[in-house]
Amino acid sequence: MISQRVLMRAMRSEDIPQVVDIDRASFPMPWSARTYEFEISNISTSHLIVLETWPDDTGQAHGLRAAIRRLWKPQTPAVLVGYGGCWLVAGEAHISTIAVHRDYRGQGLGELLLAGMLIRAINLGGEYSVLEVRASNQVAQALYRKYEYEVVGRRRGYYRDDGEDALLMEVRPLDSAYRQRLIARLEALRQRVYFVDRFTRS
Ligand SMILES: CC(C)(COP(=O)(O)OP(=O)(O)OC[C@H]1O[C@@H](n2cnc3c(N)ncnc32)[C@H](O)[C@@H]1OP(=O)(O)O)[C@@H](O)C(=O)NCCC(=O)NCCS
Repeated sequence: MISQRVLMRAMRSEDIPQVVDIDRASFPMPWSARTYEFEISNISTSHLIVLETWPDDTGQAHGLRAAIRRLWKPQTPAVLVGYGGCWLVAGEAHISTIAVHRDYRGQGLGELLLAGMLIRAINLGGEYSVLEVRASNQVAQALYRKYEYEVVGRRRGYYRDDGEDALLMEVRPLDSAYRQRLIARLEALRQRVYFVDRFTRS
């Protein structure tokens, strides 16, 4: 059953306040608004994605009616439900951040963000992908394993707030066979999430 309807697009400056809110609620060491401004301006390397939905008449941030109404009333504020970032340098797609608003987790949106970033990275020449994840973050690790990341290292005391270790995870190669598997995963996600993609090819 479809539980969410979202637009997948590149992050813009006006998104920063909502992104910072989700970030603060998701991470002990959130990025600042200035960091996001820098990342958005760093277009040669940094690829930032958001998922946007719209509040409907009942105040709930989904619904086809709400989406249609937005076409008529574009001033209706969009609601961001998740975001992510990927640095693409010399074939390496480094997932720098990813988070879904607490109220919207467990519905496939984290997958959509990750798959969206990986497809775009492949389209732009990404050859492999890496990321760091807290050793205790089982949920995120499960998401990454689903997308074929494997643990390839451990960075001791990596997180400055509490000295927790980071696991270094990697998936390679991001070849055409992997791209096909990603696209199959996106198609499977369509059973759970209605999404419009304005990111992977932009
Ligand atoms: C990690 C995060 C982005 C996942 O987003 P989400 O929208 O809740 O995840 P999805 O619904 O797309 O789930 C995708 C996969 O993640 C894993 N997952 C999600 N929720 C899980 C849970 N409660 N327990 C275990 N695995 C879980 C599963 O592998 C799931 O696949 P499945 O549906 O086939 O079981 C989200 O939990 C989050 O924002 N966490 C806080 C920020 C964070 O930790 N970011 C990662 C930093 S490295």
